[in-house]
Amino acid sequence: MAIRDLVILPDAVLRQVSAPVEAITPEIKALASDMLETMYDAPGIGLAAIQIGVPTRVVTIDLAKQDEEKTPIVFINPEITWSSEEMNVHEEGCLSIPEYYEEVERPARVKIRYLDLDGKEQEIEADGLLATCIQHEIDHLNGVLFIDHLSRLKRERVTKRFAKQARRESAA
Ligand code: NI
Repeated sequence: MAIRDLVILPDAVLRQVSAPVEAITPEIKALASDMLETMYDAPGIGLAAIQIGVPTRVVTIDLAKQDEEKTPIVFINPEITWSSEEMNVHEEGCLSIPEYYEEVERPARVKIRYLDLDGKEQEIEADGLLATCIQHEIDHLNGVLFIDHLSRLKRERVTKRFAKQARRESAA
């Protein structure tokens, strides 16, 4: 297991569309375990493989609080099979856009089909924070960021801020 570097806005890698996992190989298991370690270290509640630079459809989520027992879920090739018409607003953040939080409106409930690490097909119905989180992470697999759900003004403002910061860091 290893903690990997996070890809940060405005890195173009975040805009790549990730490819499906063809088989649950030892490499995929190692990737999932690195993702969990990286996510816990950050700390964050969700991570998509592209956020450590791997364009593969793998997502890790753990909504347990810092002092609670860990409850990791690894989603391979997750797909939304149903979304509620009812919407919900949640404040979101992203490990690729550190320390930036905004409210985003998304379907309040979703059904997700995915493969687990044993290659078994699973389906869950999610609501609340899990529904928000899994939709946010599936967006990452399609090159979409939560700031894409905001107004153009807000999106441009935060993108500019991070671009400036990246230039400063590469100049330092
Ligand atoms: Ni994110």
